[in-house]
Amino acid sequence: MNAQTELKKSIRKWVPAPLMKAYHGFALRKPKDTPARRQRLRAEALQGTKFPLSRDLLEKLPTLVAHGYPSGNPDLHYQDTDVKTGIACTEAEACLLHHAARLAQPRAAMEIGSYIGWSTVHIAAGLPASSTLTCVDPFLKGGGLHETKDLDAEARFLANIKAGGAQEKVRLAAEKSPQVLDSIAPEGGWDWAFVDGWHMDGQPLKDLIGVLPLITPDAVIFLHDCWGADVRDALSFLLASGWDAHVFDTSNYLTICWKIRPAWMDEYISLGSQPEYVNGVAQARKIFHGLADASLQAIKEAYVQPVAEFVR
Ligand SMILES: C[S@@+](CC[C@H](N)C(=O)[O-])C[C@H]1O[C@@H](n2cnc3c(N)ncnc32)[C@H](O)[C@@H]1O
Repeated sequence: MNAQTELKKSIRKWVPAPLMKAYHGFALRKPKDTPARRQRLRAEALQGTKFPLSRDLLEKLPTLVAHGYPSGNPDLHYQDTDVKTGIACTEAEACLLHHAARLAQPRAAMEIGSYIGWSTVHIAAGLPASSTLTCVDPFLKGGGLHETKDLDAEARFLANIKAGGAQEKVRLAAEKSPQVLDSIAPEGGWDWAFVDGWHMDGQPLKDLIGVLPLITPDAVIFLHDCWGADVRDALSFLLASGWDAHVFDTSNYLTICWKIRPAWMDEYISLGSQPEYVNGVAQARKIFHGLADASLQAIKEAYVQPVAEFVR
């Protein structure tokens, strides 16, 4: 038997682990969108959402349904039944953002990449009444693949903001980051930022470079999806520029970054301990992908010189 035949035989025999199998099945399948399917996915979302805040908000956003996990770390995500230009974060991540807003009490928060407002309503619910949350999302077709507007996405975002009780705090800039940032930054800068816009083409780093001159010295910045190479570049850039970070063991490695460590950070990080079912797989992959604390230090050291040259 030649090597190729042998390889083919062994591949045929390969049985993926049950979770991997479910994930691949989910990723490859293009299921027909029927009313019954929508109903089933809505029930799955309601049944799987355990944190009281998320549960309450989910009930107010009736078109959100269950969606699989893009990182490969199992946890329930959400998608709008009609608007498929993005995937919303998990309840653990949304609640971590909410808690950070409560603890930091920012004057002016911002979010790049709001999709249909799931993370937005969680953040807004944690902000003081006098704060604003600037949301930047151009709502383009394909989530940013095309230049034409997806008017349904913008309308759904606005409807959800209203239903989620966030209308008074949220200001929408339906434009592209980072181009629009200069013209909408508040006086004195933003003191809290969540970057979750376009995830490819070096965009997370471009977003960061756009945001950095427009924030206060004590601001915190959240990155989502640190399992993605382009987001990791953005994180590496921050680490090499004198920032520090804590990567949570959530499905998408939500990461909080700071230059001046806030007094509430210890309490916050301990809040971030997730139930084991979230932690186990994410923790293993975090180590596998080199995101463990020791690796963060290594990234920092490896990037200091190249970044210094890049910035010069
Ligand atoms: C992953 S989704 C955001 C999910 C949301 N943060 C949540 O968890 O509920 C990414 C979003 O980024 C938006 N986006 C794409 N390009 C962008 C850009 N240049 N500036 C801002 N947002 C962008 C897409 O329209 C999409 O809604």
